[in-house]
Amino acid sequence: MTRTTKRVLVTGACGQIGSELIPILRQRYGNDSVVATDIRPPETACLRDQGPFEQLNVCDRTTMGRFIEQYEIDTVYHMAAILSATGEEKPALAWDVNIRGLENVLEIARERHLLRIFCPSSIAVFGPDTPHDCAPQTTILQPTTMYGITKVAGELLGEYYVQRFGLDIRGVRYPGIISSETPPGGGTTDYAVDIFYQAILSRTYSCFVRPDTVLPMMYMPDCIKATLDLMDADFDSLKGHCNFNVAGMSFSAQELASEIQKHLPDFVCTYDPDFRQAIADSWPQTIDDAPAREEWNWHPRFDLSSMTIDMIEKLTARLMSRS
Ligand code: SER
Repeated sequence: MTRTTKRVLVTGACGQIGSELIPILRQRYGNDSVVATDIRPPETACLRDQGPFEQLNVCDRTTMGRFIEQYEIDTVYHMAAILSATGEEKPALAWDVNIRGLENVLEIARERHLLRIFCPSSIAVFGPDTPHDCAPQTTILQPTTMYGITKVAGELLGEYYVQRFGLDIRGVRYPGIISSETPPGGGTTDYAVDIFYQAILSRTYSCFVRPDTVLPMMYMPDCIKATLDLMDADFDSLKGHCNFNVAGMSFSAQELASEIQKHLPDFVCTYDPDFRQAIADSWPQTIDDAPAREEWNWHPRFDLSSMTIDMIEKLTARLMSRS
């Protein structure tokens, strides 16, 4: 199935991933062909000035449908979501945004025969009964968070639209994403980003998980690469669609702190676990991404050492240019 993307709409464009995906998509398809949407107003010049931006609550199907019609959209990257920690504080909101938002995208895609939809999932689909090491793609999915429940349902719903309506829906299970541009919000893996900000700004960080907490993580360039590689893959070569494990790196909070100390020797990390510890403990430490490697040639570029060097360099430059 060869189909050419012409016009793209991104939900959650102001978020951690959306804000870095938009400039790459605009380079690829042209500024005017990529419509950024978010419930919040845009903050960066790229989002604000370089191409169309529309304010959109993904729970509002009418407005979403209007933008998709108005801009003649054929491809959607549906990045808007409530993450795990916020989801535990506001479970009804997480259900509403994650499930209703996805249902709206899928229904509009069905009605308007859109070409291709990206609907990300997460390692939060796993739970305490999933193998802790090398969690396979197909395994026990019994999450204990509302976020995880919405992501399991989302994977199943996406696959249903592929099988039942012949749509082209794709998604990876993002691990914790580390990036220097836009901070994440409301996730359990946010400590792996916060630690860099605090190490650079104050040389101290109080980490909200135990030092021995190990989780799957990925640096933003690999996250973007995974997203685009899957979207570029030949549909016929895919056996699964919305549930691809993609591994980047796994490390403990303490290993991350030690890696940062190699570059900032006076950095001190302390540990004060909160409710997010239980969420972290319910997720696997490492995941097996063999299907992504086999079906669409996935391979990450960054490990803990190269990610840390690049993060400190980029974030230092960004934070210092603001002060
Ligand atoms: N980063 C997400 C979270 O912590 C996991 O996908 O909620």
